[in-house]
Amino acid sequence: MSVHANRDGFATKLGVLTATLGSAVGLGNIWKFPYMAGENGGAAFLFIYLAATIVVGLPVMISEIMMGRHARANAITTWKKVAPNNSLWMLVGVCGVLAAFAIMSFYADVVGWIFSYIFQALSGSLSSTDPAVAKAAFNATVSSPITAIAWQWGVLALVSVIILGGVSKGIEKTTKTLMPILLVMLVIVCIRSLTLPKAMDGLAFLFNPDFSKVTGEVVLMAMGLAFFKLSIGMGTMMTYGSYFRSDANMPLTATRVMLADLTISLLAGIAIFPAVFNYGFEPAAGPGLLFMTIPAVFSSMPFGQIFMTAFFVLTAIATIGAMLSLFEVPVAFMIEGGLGWSRAKSTIVTALLLGGFGIPATLSFSTMSDVTLFGLNFFDFYDYLSSNLLMPIGGFFICIFAGWKWGKERMQESLSNNGTLNNTMIISAYAFIVKWVTPLLVLTVLLKGLNVF
Ligand code: PHE
Repeated sequence: MSVHANRDGFATKLGVLTATLGSAVGLGNIWKFPYMAGENGGAAFLFIYLAATIVVGLPVMISEIMMGRHARANAITTWKKVAPNNSLWMLVGVCGVLAAFAIMSFYADVVGWIFSYIFQALSGSLSSTDPAVAKAAFNATVSSPITAIAWQWGVLALVSVIILGGVSKGIEKTTKTLMPILLVMLVIVCIRSLTLPKAMDGLAFLFNPDFSKVTGEVVLMAMGLAFFKLSIGMGTMMTYGSYFRSDANMPLTATRVMLADLTISLLAGIAIFPAVFNYGFEPAAGPGLLFMTIPAVFSSMPFGQIFMTAFFVLTAIATIGAMLSLFEVPVAFMIEGGLGWSRAKSTIVTALLLGGFGIPATLSFSTMSDVTLFGLNFFDFYDYLSSNLLMPIGGFFICIFAGWKWGKERMQESLSNNGTLNNTMIISAYAFIVKWVTPLLVLTVLLKGLNVF
């Protein structure tokens, strides 16, 4: 049977954009970007991240969407279709599915903390500007094994229910309504943060680069974050590309998503760093940074408790768009990729697997904090494996394929929707970059970051 027949997809052009943006925006912007910038020198990290998003992120995203839409198939079958004579390419898709599992295993854990914070904010227990109180609240949230796992499983169950709804009714509908509200909320936090007495110190940290902190590893981390942020290098954008309408403008959609995603990351940084410096938090506090500073920002403003609760609700919602896209990678494969399972069965199997893989990540903050793989606890291991290895490696091969095998002619055809779009110049620039610049950069950063040379 052809996979095309009756295949679900995004119904509207706006839906194409919001679902793709919904995948990109999530913990990466609001939680990861601020704490990684905080740990790695602020502005210097921001600049490298910016460069990576534009020179690496955008070309990989366009390539992935292009291949997925052409093949109209999941992340593994797409490779089978675009490279029918060489099954080795399929390994890129397999690595992608593995990366989706690795990411979800720690992602759902952090989203569980967010859900828990919604209730703690409601109860008023987070209303304090004292760093010691904030730290204690965060530690209590992450270090209780049973509660943390219960939240994580709850999150997985919730996402499974939406995924069961399918692509246009489940994924598209959810993301369309919620993205705009989150943006408004972030702007409110930014305004509050910027009016704090020591706001300028925070901005200076975020925008005055000190390149002395930059090492090969920091560059690799910034590039890994760009991959993570844009949900690329592991088949998410390929899978979503397969749901793109035939009249969707792929380079334009990718560019819009990249810019909007960047804006939201910057807003998150502007929301958090002024508060960090104003209240005397530690910028390098790591994964707890968001959870400690945001309550402090809100505690010092009128109706703070209501805003704080709303902030965590919206962040939770933003993460749902991202988790849906992560989930959809293995689910689409299980449905179409030879297993022939129903959507319901594929969703349940994926959720159960994630429930299992996720446990050691969650317990990394309590009972399993001493258990390490290659010197990292499970939480950090899943994160490192996906962002710093699997996604860049996937991105490298995607560029090689797009630039060298797909070729310029077919690119012109696909990306202009068979000549109906007037974007020849843009496609030529993309064709050059994806062939020569991006793969070389990714490879250099990867090898340098891993200390190979
Ligand atoms: N981009 C998402 C975020 O920033 C995470 C993600 C990674 C989603 C990979 C899908 C695939 O939170």
